[in-house]
Amino acid sequence: LTADEASLVQSSWKAVSHNEVEILAAVFAAYPDIQNKFPQFAGKDLASIKDTGAFATHATRIVSFLSEVIALSGNESNASAVNSLVSKLGDDHKARGVSAAQFGEFRTALVAYLSNHVSWGDNVAAAWNKALDNTYAIVVPRL
Ligand code: HEM
Repeated sequence: LTADEASLVQSSWKAVSHNEVEILAAVFAAYPDIQNKFPQFAGKDLASIKDTGAFATHATRIVSFLSEVIALSGNESNASAVNSLVSKLGDDHKARGVSAAQFGEFRTALVAYLSNHVSWGDNVAAAWNKALDNTYAIVVPRL
């Protein structure tokens, strides 16, 4: 990403990244097959798990991962650190049987959440699309 694209992604992420639980709940609501991959959440009513500590813990893990990668973006000297983090995410999720299609679902749900909760101009949308394309080019072949 250019520095300008990275700053659009960073500022829009900052506007929602405190809403960890809402973000994960939106992903699970749209794609129950993702929820069902979690042994502790599989088959449960989303409303009954959303307010639990286990849900908050996992929501924080996902959001923290995204925050870490987003903080590194826009600076070529961080490219190899990003590559290692995202490759490891892919390897760890392959080991759990998570598919590329499910990562695609996650992307769709994340973009839907963002587009409804941040100021979603064309430039912001394009910067996120590029950021996600770059990340998915690393992770998808690992799955
Ligand atoms: C851990 C499933 C996508 C970040 C996990 C775990 C499962 C899982 C089952 C283990 C949870 C536990 O042991 O309590 C899935 C599924 C996905 C998905 C089905 C479908 C798209 C993602 C994405 C991210 C992510 C896109 C990051 C943006 C993490 C992190 C952990 C984790 C940081 C904890 C560290 C680890 O154990 O690897 N995921 N995940 N996951 N997931 Fe995902």
